[in-house]
Amino acid sequence: MIDSPVGFDPAELDTLLAGIRDRYGYDFREYAPASLARRIRSQMGTDPLPALSDRLLQDPEAFGRFLDELAVHSTSMFRDPGFWRSLRANVLPHLATWPFIRIWCVGCSTGEEAWSLAILLEEEGLLARSRIYATDLSERVLERARRGVFPLSAMKEYTENYLASRGTRAFSDYYSAGYDKAIFRGDLVRQAVFAQHNLATDGAFQEFHLVLCRNVLIYFGASLSERVHRLLFESLAFTGVLALGLRETIERTPLADRYDPLDAGQRIYRKARP
Ligand SMILES: C[S@@+](CC[C@H](N)C(=O)[O-])C[C@H]1O[C@@H](n2cnc3c(N)ncnc32)[C@H](O)[C@@H]1O
Repeated sequence: MIDSPVGFDPAELDTLLAGIRDRYGYDFREYAPASLARRIRSQMGTDPLPALSDRLLQDPEAFGRFLDELAVHSTSMFRDPGFWRSLRANVLPHLATWPFIRIWCVGCSTGEEAWSLAILLEEEGLLARSRIYATDLSERVLERARRGVFPLSAMKEYTENYLASRGTRAFSDYYSAGYDKAIFRGDLVRQAVFAQHNLATDGAFQEFHLVLCRNVLIYFGASLSERVHRLLFESLAFTGVLALGLRETIERTPLADRYDPLDAGQRIYRKARP
């Protein structure tokens, strides 16, 4: 039985989350309780929890919508420009010392982060010898990530982020506009892989020189978060770089002393000890 977020009957919540795990293979039992409870409640409407359980376990479409709500897909291109400035200035020169560069973009959502990375690598002359592995729990967002088609209405914000991150070209060089969509240049992700990977249940699958895991761990409870930190650490080559979201840190985790800060303010760390 898991700890119950305030306001739910622990047995009913357990039935829902164990049912989802058994039926669909997604394990949310170790997500941060308060945020989990908020999202479940928003899906319940006026129904009691058992009615929501029945609906989700019988209707994969309804579960797909629920999954999108639970997983929180909010993202943007060049999100937190200061982070991207630091990546360009402090991390890419280090990556350039490897003949072939493998990057894991964890929890990539609809792909804006992976496409931003590709643009950055292209501008620094590293794209041709890099491979980005962009993964997420949700196949629905990965489909969108692969396409690289984003709302035209978002381009004003993305252009501002790009310029603030010290982008070196006109941002519009990277996409063509069609009706209400911005269609990004397919060659940017020719060598990228978009694939499903669940941090709660899947293991390490490659050794990487850079791992971006931004704005994912904030949704996890302490023990899942600790397991994922271990997985990220195991996935990094010696002197490889870990980048977290601005509200996340390796401080106070059991692996903190294995990293040296590269830019602690931007949550960028280098694996310094095995
Ligand atoms: C808020 S988005 C972050 C997107 C991007 N990294 C960024 O910072 O803009 C969090 C993403 O983590 C994914 N996620 C949540 N739980 C996951 C898990 N167990 N395994 C893999 N991805 C997960 C969600 O599907 C969602 O797309």
